[in-house]
Amino acid sequence: MRTTKSVDELIREAATSQELRRELGPLNLVALGIGAIIGAGIFVLTGQAAAQYAGPAIALSFVLSGLGCVFAALCYAEFASLIPIAGSAYTYAYATLGQFFAWIIGWDLLLEYLFGASTVAVGWSGYVVSWLADIGIHVPKELASAPLAFDPKTHSWATTGAVFNLPAALIIAVLTTLLVLGIRESATVNNIIVFVKVGVILLFITFGAAYVNVANWIPFIPENTGQFGHYGWSGILRGAGVIFFAYIGFDAVSTAAQEARNPQRDMPIGIIGSLLISTLLYILVALVMTGVVHYSKLGVPDPMAVAVNAMQSAEGEPLYWLRHIVKLGAIAGLTSVILVLLLGQPRILYTMAKDGLLPQFFAAVHPKFRTPARATLLTGSIAAVIAGLFPIGILGELVSIGTLLAFTIVCIAVIVLRYERPDLPRPFRVPWMPVIPILGALVSLVQMLSLPLDTWIRLLGWMALGLLIYAVYGRRHSVVGQQTQR
Ligand code: ALA
Repeated sequence: MRTTKSVDELIREAATSQELRRELGPLNLVALGIGAIIGAGIFVLTGQAAAQYAGPAIALSFVLSGLGCVFAALCYAEFASLIPIAGSAYTYAYATLGQFFAWIIGWDLLLEYLFGASTVAVGWSGYVVSWLADIGIHVPKELASAPLAFDPKTHSWATTGAVFNLPAALIIAVLTTLLVLGIRESATVNNIIVFVKVGVILLFITFGAAYVNVANWIPFIPENTGQFGHYGWSGILRGAGVIFFAYIGFDAVSTAAQEARNPQRDMPIGIIGSLLISTLLYILVALVMTGVVHYSKLGVPDPMAVAVNAMQSAEGEPLYWLRHIVKLGAIAGLTSVILVLLLGQPRILYTMAKDGLLPQFFAAVHPKFRTPARATLLTGSIAAVIAGLFPIGILGELVSIGTLLAFTIVCIAVIVLRYERPDLPRPFRVPWMPVIPILGALVSLVQMLSLPLDTWIRLLGWMALGLLIYAVYGRRHSVVGQQTQR
């Protein structure tokens, strides 16, 4: 028998819960989404995906991956307006597919949020160290890179000689402190950063457009080399799988549902609005980047900086000022992604603890700051250690597979609830039911399949650990389970 949590009860809980502060309006929520979305994907991964897989057609990869995300975002929006609880996909699964799936997804979301924050912190460290070097400060490599490395060819781990990625761990520590202090303070810092990063991206697009050399776009879809994924249409597909990472984060808006002033109206605005704005910016950045520099030169960790270097004034002077601004914009951008992911994770743990699936430790709200302080501190500590130890590639793929699994389950859950409870008041409805959710689930599954076997094995290992904890703790302590037994 499925142990589900009653939707009516959840809606009541959302309406009456006073623990977390309801401070966020629609603009804050869109900013929260953009804060989480625009980061390592566009500032780091775009160039590599263009150079290795898609060429200028990376812009089409962005359209494709963005479309898949829009399908999933519509499903998130329906749920978030219907059940505005901080648990996001975890809660939606609990209300529809039952406790077991809820646990799976809750455990899986750790991959997206906690590991996601670590991944982006590693990218942050790379940009900061490179910018510091530009101004003459050299951070020793041993203290700014991962001590562990994975070789996909031999499937083995090795040590690199480095000690710890200190900057990555430090930024997580600083942002965790901010998050403990308050949701309003965190949202304000996020708004400022989002303003800066969107401004920098607009500067890049506006200035860059003047330097586009149309010859760089020809052919727009470079001919396939004979190998799947190396240019041509299959390259666009592979490129879409890689830059999917760039879209992760719109769903983080839903974890702030209990802190939104009017979640029924504003959740869909935050989720879909932030995704659409980011998609548009991504497509424009991709076009400008590949128009200014030939795609074959973009396979670097800082492709936007390379594109800026190629923009020269009439006297042949590079735009030095823009180079610094782009790097600082990237650092700001990465900061807000870490911030919002670190904001989402404790709120999911908080909801799971309220349901009894995790110890009450995670449900504690700080009496003064009214934030889930203990869960925030624990999340931050673990994320900092992971960021200090592991390389970005391994972490990024785990984050993508975990997120895609969550999207798949949410898309299926939205169909289940429509058929089981058609009567519920839905302030926002996914159009063209059930086509959109089915497409959302399919696109997510296909992207999961495009990831390496090693990543699948890690996902399964992580899930096995989760199931063990569920069997030993969650199943026995669940509030709903105890009510059923009584
Ligand atoms: N979408 C986020 C980024 O690109 C995770 O950094």
